[in-house]
Amino acid sequence: MSGLFITLEGPEGAGKSTNRDYLAARLREHGLDVVLTREPGGTPLAEKVRELLLAPSDEVMAADTELLLVFAARAQHLAQVIRPALAKGSVVLCDRFTDATYAYQGGGRGLSVARIAALEQFVQGDLRPDLTLVFDLPVEVGLARAAARGRLDRFEQEGQAFFEAVRQAYLQRAQGEPQRYNLLDAAQPLDVVQRAIDALLPAIVERCRG
Ligand code: TMP
Repeated sequence: MSGLFITLEGPEGAGKSTNRDYLAARLREHGLDVVLTREPGGTPLAEKVRELLLAPSDEVMAADTELLLVFAARAQHLAQVIRPALAKGSVVLCDRFTDATYAYQGGGRGLSVARIAALEQFVQGDLRPDLTLVFDLPVEVGLARAAARGRLDRFEQEGQAFFEAVRQAYLQRAQGEPQRYNLLDAAQPLDVVQRAIDALLPAIVERCRG
């Protein structure tokens, strides 16, 4: 058995967490050891950094500060959770990872891909997800779903143009590396999305048994 690193990406309101739990349950039925986690966060310290990132504040957070906080949380998460779990042969299912940095800090905030890539290499070395599920959704649908959930966090308070740029960044990355990304239409009913996830299961299980 070898570990497998699977990430789930997409805008707010795309059903990532529900589908992450669904995929975890299916993989466990196959006898696989699954670690569920999320970013920013996944350890007590990284969850504190998440609070800093998500809390609305009167002080505008500089884009570089945001970028460095995201990678600071990631360094902790990698050291405490992700690398140990992969070394043990577990499947790590992570709700967001560095693709979110390319989408939000790159697409949304306009930071350069080169700067993000430099930090990615510094923090992760050669570690990249083995598989990334991108839950794609029209911006207005995602924003309406997020608004229905209650108080908006610092990112959710951004406008339509920010989220259009986030979406385009995800789509570009998915198109640029089709062997790693699976694009799922999150506007479909949940059972349709889950049938699409079911279709991915045999390949995932085979890779884990590798
Ligand atoms: P969520 O996990 O509840 O969707 O919220 C996390 C928020 O953090 C989401 O708005 C996206 C944002 N985020 C970034 O801006 N950059 C990142 O690298 C990650 C992991 C998340």
